[in-house]
Amino acid sequence: MGRPLTGIFLDTGNREVIARYHAMGLIRGVTTNPTILVKEGVTSGWDGIEKRCKEIARLIAPLPLSVEVTTNDSKGMLQQAKRLSGWAKNINVKIPIHGPGGELENLRIVHLLEKEENIRINVTAMMSAQQCLLAAMAGATYVSIFGGRVNNMGYDSRREVRLLRDLLDAFESPAKIIVGSTREVLNIVEWFEAGADIVTAVPNLLEGMIVHPYSKETVRQFLEDGARLQR
Ligand code: E4P
Repeated sequence: MGRPLTGIFLDTGNREVIARYHAMGLIRGVTTNPTILVKEGVTSGWDGIEKRCKEIARLIAPLPLSVEVTTNDSKGMLQQAKRLSGWAKNINVKIPIHGPGGELENLRIVHLLEKEENIRINVTAMMSAQQCLLAAMAGATYVSIFGGRVNNMGYDSRREVRLLRDLLDAFESPAKIIVGSTREVLNIVEWFEAGADIVTAVPNLLEGMIVHPYSKETVRQFLEDGARLQR
């Protein structure tokens, strides 16, 4: 890993959890998606989405927050991207690599937003190095590959990340690789080792990185002996 990595993003819309890990200095950004916001109980339509996203953006500023469009209509994506990015300077916009039926307009929208509207885009819902390479060619600031879903399909996500890293380096692309869709604590370090700039992790896996059974036993021993010292 010869280059400086960016670090760990939190993959959540939970303000309290974000505040907890941000206070430790452990995170370098936050990613959300419509499913995450539904799970977090965000309601009241666009007012609710705006309120939660602005709260998170304020909480972590100037660290980046990814907020995803909720439509695959080209005009709607353009309108939403301008709206979402206007909520805070540190909000970048997530746009899926293509539509639910394989519609190809999305990369034109990505290119236009990045190059003409100066809006930072995180191209998401990608499963292969090839998809991410083209998203980077389109000018995406971030290219998000769903490592956990790639593994679930029976492929080796580490291979895809390694291939993507080599391709982006060969093209001297500035795009940052985000690997998301975490499922295990090991995912985080193995995806950094494979070449990710960023791993966006669900919060409980960060806890799993910190807490170790043998450390618990060791700390208990030290505290017990510390108490003995004071008798
Ligand atoms: C990251 O930004 C993705 O939206 C997220 O990690 C997807 O996770 P999932 O595959 O568990 O839905």
